[in-house]
Amino acid sequence: MKKILANIETTRDIEIPADPLSRVIGQERAVETARLAAYQRRHLLLIGPPGIGKSMIAQALALHISQPTEEIRVVHNPSNPERPAVEVLTKEAVYAERERKQFVEGELLDAKDVPPHIAERLGYRCGQCGMYSSYTEKVCPRCQKPKTGVRGDSAPFSDIVGNLFFTLGDMLPQKNSVTTTRAVGDKEEVVVYERAGDKIRMLDQRTLERRKEIEKQRPRKVLVPLERKPFVLATGASETELLGDVRHDPYGGHRELGTQPYERVIPGAIHEAHQGVLFIDELPHLGHLQRYILTAMQEKKFPITGRNPQSAGASVRVDAVPCDFIFVGACNIQDLPTILSPLRSRIIGSGYEVLLETYMPDTDENRMKLAQFIAQEITMDGRIPHATRAAVLEVIAEAGRRAKKMDGVENALTLRLRELGGLVRAAGDLAVISRSEYIDAEHIKKALEHAKTAEEQIMEKYGSLQAGVSRELADSQKSNKYFYWNRTELDGYQ
Ligand SMILES: Nc1ncnc2c1ncn2[C@@H]1O[C@H](COP(=O)(O)OP(=O)(O)OP(=O)(O)O)[C@@H](O)[C@H]1O
Ligand SMILES: [Mg+2]
Repeated sequence: MKKILANIETTRDIEIPADPLSRVIGQERAVETARLAAYQRRHLLLIGPPGIGKSMIAQALALHISQPTEEIRVVHNPSNPERPAVEVLTKEAVYAERERKQFVEGELLDAKDVPPHIAERLGYRCGQCGMYSSYTEKVCPRCQKPKTGVRGDSAPFSDIVGNLFFTLGDMLPQKNSVTTTRAVGDKEEVVVYERAGDKIRMLDQRTLERRKEIEKQRPRKVLVPLERKPFVLATGASETELLGDVRHDPYGGHRELGTQPYERVIPGAIHEAHQGVLFIDELPHLGHLQRYILTAMQEKKFPITGRNPQSAGASVRVDAVPCDFIFVGACNIQDLPTILSPLRSRIIGSGYEVLLETYMPDTDENRMKLAQFIAQEITMDGRIPHATRAAVLEVIAEAGRRAKKMDGVENALTLRLRELGGLVRAAGDLAVISRSEYIDAEHIKKALEHAKTAEEQIMEKYGSLQAGVSRELADSQKSNKYFYWNRTELDGYQ
């Protein structure tokens, strides 16, 4: 990678790192801690204002932990259906089971490779002329006679009957499967032929026995599959989303009419994050639910129960469903006090808290990082062209202005990058509309006009925010105190 800005013509020359954690700009401490947390399976709390990479770090961290090796299922409990059991299978067990099942699927054969009378009975062969066709075609495409399911040369009088009475086809309907026998050595064994799309499936005695065995197994439902993303996001989640639920069944799980309780069990985010990362954005929004997270973190398992007392699911409970996750939380600085202190103590005790940076010093190296950020945003967006060096310098200048305005520091570059990304995209749109090959400095300058926040626009137009509000207030609004639902008095707006 070319390390200084002077060496690049456009952002196309910048190599974007393959590792998503290396795409996070200016948060070295947080990134390093995230690597550590992933490696050692520690919890992590990321603290900082919006748009500086908290979600990005959490997501990238998940790509650094190993793929889950367990599958969680709920199994029907015949003696007490409302207490389904949990079953945890290792990767090896899941694979072995799949293999067994595959074996049970029998052998797929071409219609021409099974005895002709079987092919006729299943509707793949015309009993009159011997032409093969799909069983979905009721009439033979060659001789235009109905496929009767009886072999022309073996059925008695079949030519007469077949020619004169097409209705015979109705009397000997085609079947989905045919059971027959075959001689193996001096023994006779059962063979079943089944329709399987274009092919015919043959199940020999051993396969049939295996199939029966599997069917005899207690019914089960896969709750958390082996193949899953090891990153689960739960933003302001509801209790059921977070902890799981048992769905309602109007027939109350009646043996024939209803759905069995085990089938109605739904995992929560904490269970889906088993062996992965549970990311909770805006942690304080969880309120009292933080308590459950704490319990789940401590026990590494959490029961699933019906959470709606009105529902038939309320009487169902699955105990000890595994939920061994890495917890990653994010919050703003001012929200820190609203996080449950035992939860924080848990994180500190078995993980890290990191305060993210809001700006970085204006150095050549960091300017290059900002250029990498621009290249990333452009590539990710996919709809805008690359930027010239002049455009990059323009964005860097703006990053400097923003660091001064928002953090009051000189010679620094802002790391509030979501908003800066917005600027790049707006400039990109302008470049697209003006059919430019690249985003140029001019586009950035223009976009800066467009990208002004509502407050900035009001300031420009009215001189101050207050002036803007009071001038545009209708008289009726002025007299209606409820208009200011979140204020106790009108002072400051008059
Ligand atoms: N440090 C960074 N490095 C690279 N890109 C960043 C960085 N911070 C933010 N971005 C860009 O801004 C976008 C938003 O960042 P992200 O969602 O991680 O912010 P956040 O801190 O989680 O904000 P919020 O508190 O609003 O959830 C990212 O998808 C990325 O494009
Ligand atoms: Mg976020």
